[in-house]
Amino acid sequence: MSYARNPHSILITGASSGIGAALAVAYAAPGVTLALSGRNQARLDDISTQCRESGAEVFARVINVTDIAGMKSWIDEMDAQSPLDLVIANAGISSGSARDSEEEAQTRSIFSVNLEGVLNTIWPAIDAMRPRKTGQLAIVASIAGFRGLPGAPAYSASKAAVLNYGDALRGMLLVDGIHVSVICPGYVVSRMTDTNTFPMPFLMSADKAAGTIKRRLAKAKGRIVFPWPMLWLMRVLQALPIALTDPFLSRLPKKN
Ligand SMILES: NC(=O)c1ccc[n+]([C@@H]2O[C@H](COP(=O)([O-])OP(=O)(O)OC[C@H]3O[C@@H](n4cnc5c(N)ncnc54)[C@H](OP(=O)(O)O)[C@@H]3O)[C@@H](O)[C@H]2O)c1
Repeated sequence: MSYARNPHSILITGASSGIGAALAVAYAAPGVTLALSGRNQARLDDISTQCRESGAEVFARVINVTDIAGMKSWIDEMDAQSPLDLVIANAGISSGSARDSEEEAQTRSIFSVNLEGVLNTIWPAIDAMRPRKTGQLAIVASIAGFRGLPGAPAYSASKAAVLNYGDALRGMLLVDGIHVSVICPGYVVSRMTDTNTFPMPFLMSADKAAGTIKRRLAKAKGRIVFPWPMLWLMRVLQALPIALTDPFLSRLPKKN
């Protein structure tokens, strides 16, 4: 297994906002090439400008992560431009069940973006990295992926899927020299959490989250879970019988 401690060619999905934008800014430096994507042109332009001001070469693309063919051709193009050292599958959406239950269409779109969007990002990257026997993939899951949450069923389940998939890929891709990290943040300030009206324990800024992720990716940590009190809270929830935790969790505030 090998990876670049100081990656020079980095691709980030969902770089137009929140954690992805903060990661782009954190990695931006002279000699670094950034391939950034999102759906919103204005936000993406704003982050690209900030990264260029820090000396990075930036290729920004408005593209939906659910576009399989478009993602393959964009990632192939970026890899041909500058062989990718690090690919961060970060784009994601959430919504909860505040109106009693998640609508079916909303549920399907969460799975589509959070699960298929990750596959559409990492598979072209795996194809590019395999022959080189080097590279690093980072999949942004969530602490919410440690337990199915009645307040956000599709979100927590989609994050559980990518968390387990990333853990499994890490072993599978050892032979190919590709390192896989799964990132599980707790609550981070972003457009995703801006709509939450309930208290968010241990809420942290996107810049602080990006700093933690960057430091731990440089050490090739297989799982990057923070902040630790949220991890322990989820571990306790996992350890307790569901007959105890279901009534408690179903009374927690739901995400709008
Ligand atoms: N904030 C938290 O508390 C928290 C905690 C744990 C995990 N996470 C995860 O962290 C990741 C980033 O979330 P965030 O908190 O930074 O939220 P955010 O501010 O809403 O950013 C989400 C990013 O994903 C992009 N995106 C969403 N759907 C997309 C699609 N279909 N195609 C392409 N890009 C798409 C957005 O692009 P646009 O600008 O075009 O909308 C935006 O750049 C997500 O995977 C999220 O689940 C967040």
